[in-house]
Amino acid sequence: MWYGEKIILSAIQRDYLPQYVEWLNDWEVAQNLMPGAPFPQNIEDETEWFEKHRKGADKFIFAILTRADKKLIGNSGLQNVDWKNRSAVFGIFIGDKNYWSKGYGTDATRTLVRFAFEQLGLNRIELWVYAFNTRAMRAYEKAGFKREGVRRQGLFRNGQFHDEILMSILRAEWNDTGSEKS
Ligand SMILES: CC(C)(COP(=O)(O)OP(=O)(O)OC[C@H]1O[C@@H](n2cnc3c(N)ncnc32)[C@H](O)[C@@H]1OP(=O)(O)O)[C@@H](O)C(=O)NCCC(=O)NCCS
Repeated sequence: MWYGEKIILSAIQRDYLPQYVEWLNDWEVAQNLMPGAPFPQNIEDETEWFEKHRKGADKFIFAILTRADKKLIGNSGLQNVDWKNRSAVFGIFIGDKNYWSKGYGTDATRTLVRFAFEQLGLNRIELWVYAFNTRAMRAYEKAGFKREGVRRQGLFRNGQFHDEILMSILRAEWNDTGSEKS
């Protein structure tokens, strides 16, 4: 388990899956996420995802629990780990909306970045975020990610085209004590 100030990155347990399905079927959450949407998920989809991801050598996916009471609030992980170029793609969701905008996402992001740099020896972490997801971009900036590029109108969602923003953080610019200024 990896500890942040407010969260713990923990193993995903099989009995968390029904809760993930419920969150992934909440459009307020799912519209921000790359895979799946706009198709509803069921427990078979989620179980298949769980079996595939927990054994993959190029993936590290964690449950996010609160430190205070070990409550499940979401998940976060690295995918497409490229061991030659030492890079990976970051993803996160906090499904319990009561925990949005209270610093949990920034803390989980910082904790996973620390894991990636200090435990996996990675050099670059990147992510894609939709231009309308200003809350997420703010959290990523606070964790030290920089905006790197735009995939213009790459997403059609809710009747409109939206830009996809590429952000990244490099080992050399990472500041473990909180990276907002870097
Ligand atoms: C994106 C997500 C992980 C961020 O986690 P979080 O705990 O809500 O974020 P934090 O509280 O750490 O940081 C959010 C920041 O954005 C600010 N914010 C909130 N709503 C905002 C908005 N609509 N526009 C701009 N900033 C906003 C918050 O005030 C906070 O900044 P501050 O600390 O300077 O005040 C979480 O909201 C989430 O999982 N959302 C749904 C799924 C998702 O979007 N996943 C990411 C896909 S790329």
